[in-house]
Amino acid sequence: KNMACIFDLDGVLVDTAVYHYKAWKQLANSLGFDFTHAQNEQLKGVNRMCSLDMILKWGNLDKSESEREELASLKNSWYVAMISKMTIAEVLPGSLKLLQDLKEQGVKTALGSASKNSALILERTGLVDFFDAIVDGNAVTSSKPDPEVFVKGAELLKVANKDCVVFEDAIAGVQAAIAAGMKIIGVGETGNLPGAQLVIKDLSAITIEEILSLYN
Ligand code: G6P
Ligand code: MG
Repeated sequence: KNMACIFDLDGVLVDTAVYHYKAWKQLANSLGFDFTHAQNEQLKGVNRMCSLDMILKWGNLDKSESEREELASLKNSWYVAMISKMTIAEVLPGSLKLLQDLKEQGVKTALGSASKNSALILERTGLVDFFDAIVDGNAVTSSKPDPEVFVKGAELLKVANKDCVVFEDAIAGVQAAIAAGMKIIGVGETGNLPGAQLVIKDLSAITIEEILSLYN
């Protein structure tokens, strides 16, 4: 079957969601406020500037364009300092095995991430060679929940949208995959990701056979 698996990066393949959270929290705290765990869930999958705008809204702060650029790059400098020290140990359980199995079986794969730092992360963790296509924050203009990032991945792989399975840990990412007409395997806590066909704790909890059975 000409199908494909499209993987989100942060929080699905690698344990970077915690670094995004730490850096955004540090930024909000430096501006004199905080945000909740539930609010942080809404930030997942959302690109850098849109995330900043959501956070500033929660803090009731109005900032100019140039101040926003500065705040976003400050957050990114903290985040990059953290991920620069990443190792293969921060690849989440099951990621490597599933990517290896997919490669062995000739199933096409793409990365579908909002991050502009994906190259650094893939390089630090040694995952880059597992992808037939990479679509990240540098290649798209619209942020998840817009489907652009996944639609571009499907196009590059020459697979119909309906024959793509998206792996996502973010509410915005699940919405993007629904909008693209793709199947979704949620990664995280059950109940947190409505709209997913299936929610698993991590990628060690799924096999290629189970992925293919989504089509039956
Ligand atoms: C991922 C993360 C988001 C992050 C976005 C942009 O989707 O889940 O939390 O804001 O990427 O990441 P970047 O590395 O470009 O700031
Ligand atoms: Mg994610």
